[in-house]
Amino acid sequence: MTDNTPKVIAVSSGKGGVGKTNFVVNLATYISTLKKKVLIIDADLGLANIDVLFGIAPKFNLRHVLLGQKRLMEIIINGPNGIMILPASSGVRELTNLNNFQKIQMLSEINSFELSVDVILIDTGAGISDNVLFFCGSAQETIVIVTSEPTSLADAYALIKILSKDFGKDRFRVLVNMTRSEKEAFSTFRKLAIVADKFLNLSIDYLGYLPYEQHVKDAIIAQKSFISLYPNSPFAKKLYGLGEKILEMKPNDSEGGLQFFFKKALRVG
Ligand SMILES: Nc1ncnc2c1ncn2[C@@H]1O[C@H](COP(=O)(O)OP(=O)(O)O)[C@@H](O)[C@H]1O
Ligand SMILES: [Mg+2]
Repeated sequence: MTDNTPKVIAVSSGKGGVGKTNFVVNLATYISTLKKKVLIIDADLGLANIDVLFGIAPKFNLRHVLLGQKRLMEIIINGPNGIMILPASSGVRELTNLNNFQKIQMLSEINSFELSVDVILIDTGAGISDNVLFFCGSAQETIVIVTSEPTSLADAYALIKILSKDFGKDRFRVLVNMTRSEKEAFSTFRKLAIVADKFLNLSIDYLGYLPYEQHVKDAIIAQKSFISLYPNSPFAKKLYGLGEKILEMKPNDSEGGLQFFFKKALRVG
């Protein structure tokens, strides 16, 4: 294990539309301004994909790799600031369903794949579908995004429950998005923490919050990250703080890197 083994962080939520993609795009932008290399694995089947938000159109995706038509290296696209994107929203379903021969093929592809990155962020999509569990279950760290809506909390709880019971995950970092105040954010987190403690005997961590910001829409229309358009906004300042906290997280070292991640996900090696 070396210092340059990347951290693998899955960003998920129970409910859709809580701000995962927007968070991943802005976090990646911030990390890249620190001269660190970021790879985003876009596994969100939702509408506003990473590539749409960055205004780039990938020609190929993970499905082409699984079909043996492209190498992994060939499907990676370059976004702004040297951010790399692995388009995986197509092909993920197949990835969770490979036969042994395909697994071995995929593994050899992964083993020969060399990419120097510091942080890998996975935009997993919402819910508790196979692909969300596949990615969250194999990442080193799971960030769960919630809003103060009760439905968002209930769905986040369902996700945490299944990841802890069926995947042995015991660490969750909760980010409260679109809040009106720090107080509201913390009380939202507390509600989730109390049920996780009571029913799952699990202590979850408070990562922090991001304020509701009406201009986020403008950034999406402009196909740029919000913080590159509004670097001094309250949202941006909070995001920088979260970025620092995330970079300081000390995940279990033996589990870093893309290779380890894929092997765990494919349950091989
Ligand atoms: N902090 C925020 N303030 C205001 N709007 C936000 C914020 N975060 C996300 N949004 C908006 O909420 C919607 C859903 O965000 P998105 O990142 O696509 O969610 P997800 O990926 O979880 O489905 C988008 O229209 C986005 O612009
Ligand atoms: Mg999304």
